[in-house]
Amino acid sequence: MENVSFLTKNFGKYDTNAIGSYVKIGGFSALKKALDLEPLSISDLIASVKVKGRGGAEYDMYDMGRKLSQARAVKGERKVVICNADEGETTTFKDRELIKNDPFNLIEAIIIAGYVVGATDGYIYMRAEYACFRPLLLNAIRQAKSCGFLGEKILGKNFNFNIHLYSGAGAYVCGEGTALIRSIEGRAGRPRMKPPFIKQSGVFARPTCLCNVESLSIVPHLLLDEQQVYASCGMGDSIGTKMISVAGNVNRPGVFEIPFGTTVREIIYELAGGVQKNRHIRLIQFGGASGKVADESILDTPYTYEDLRAAGVMVGSGGILVIDERTSVLDFLRMNQEFFSEESCGQCTPCREGNLHIKLILDKMAEGKATAEDVKLMCKIARVMSMSSLCGLGETAQNSLLSAMEVFPETFEVGGAEA
Ligand SMILES: Cc1cc2nc3c(=O)[nH]c(=O)nc-3n(C[C@H](O)[C@H](O)[C@H](O)COP(=O)(O)O)c2cc1C
Ligand code: SF4
Repeated sequence: MENVSFLTKNFGKYDTNAIGSYVKIGGFSALKKALDLEPLSISDLIASVKVKGRGGAEYDMYDMGRKLSQARAVKGERKVVICNADEGETTTFKDRELIKNDPFNLIEAIIIAGYVVGATDGYIYMRAEYACFRPLLLNAIRQAKSCGFLGEKILGKNFNFNIHLYSGAGAYVCGEGTALIRSIEGRAGRPRMKPPFIKQSGVFARPTCLCNVESLSIVPHLLLDEQQVYASCGMGDSIGTKMISVAGNVNRPGVFEIPFGTTVREIIYELAGGVQKNRHIRLIQFGGASGKVADESILDTPYTYEDLRAAGVMVGSGGILVIDERTSVLDFLRMNQEFFSEESCGQCTPCREGNLHIKLILDKMAEGKATAEDVKLMCKIARVMSMSSLCGLGETAQNSLLSAMEVFPETFEVGGAEA
């Protein structure tokens, strides 16, 4: 299996508390290079290698280069770049590794994104559970400011930019852009209708460009990639590398950087060390709780956006959950559904009521009391939710259920319809 270290190449190479040690390994030379370039040539570079947003919202997946150039084109004063470090999707913990092991690269990336967009402020919105990284990031911001990489006239150029760190209070839905923005503004973290779109009216109604930690972290490395290492990795339209996290019943759960095109089998059996005690795989969920599920037949599929989609699942947040034969499909779905019943913000009816009712029907199935009519109703609720919920949470909460209905139809064979 091909070993790559593009996004992770700084890991363990410098003291994450000392900017001097980052500068020694070439840190901030991407920023220096960027400030001598036209902003749009940077977004063009990102677009040329087809970097897609790594935050997982595949339903409205944005090409990162296009996103930055569109954000630049928006008219408005005091634009904002937000780094989404909420990482609330279950089984997903790759952004944490980028923050922990390479905080200065992230700071550098946000400054470069700010320059491309024409922003004056950057916000890092970090999930409550990552509070332990607050001192690390606050120190990195403070040191970057004292070295002239943040603040007024950065590196002597006509570019002023500051970064602010915000922590969430622990709600999954606050990873959704509009909820995240309300949370920064000090309001209840509940999504709102769009339009207006974030790029036109985001934090405090200022034009805002929202990007995931991993999406941003790629940028400094790309700018210095003279050998075009990134472009030489990957398969088809999925160029480059991807940070993934593997969790569940594997021997070596963890975060790995892979070239796109690595097979699911290589990920589970080589990187993650295989299934504990060589048990059989019951199911694999891709992309966190809002992701779809597959059975073992997916093992030889290359991990690319296109191949996973063709196989009925998706890259999503980059999380991979392996469930072995000891857990039934039904119990897995009940656990997943419980998560959404808890995390729905309750603002709109399809999601608030739908998640609860699906959970009740799954529980009824577990008790052996469900009828075919119940299963039909559950399926209908799931479809209505995906079509009529206000935000991505309600639109995708039933992904695991609907995909399981296709992959494991036997799970849903229950007694005859009620009269
Ligand atoms: C319920 C919900 C939770 C989300 N959580 C996250 C998250 O934790 N991190 C993230 O980057 N994106 C999350 N997203 C996606 C963001 O709304 C947004 O698409 C993303 O931050 C944009 O960055 P990208 O284009 O770099 O992926 C979430 C979306 C929804 C609907
Ligand atoms: S879909 Fe769910 S999480 Fe999103 S606004 Fe509606 S109730 Fe809240």
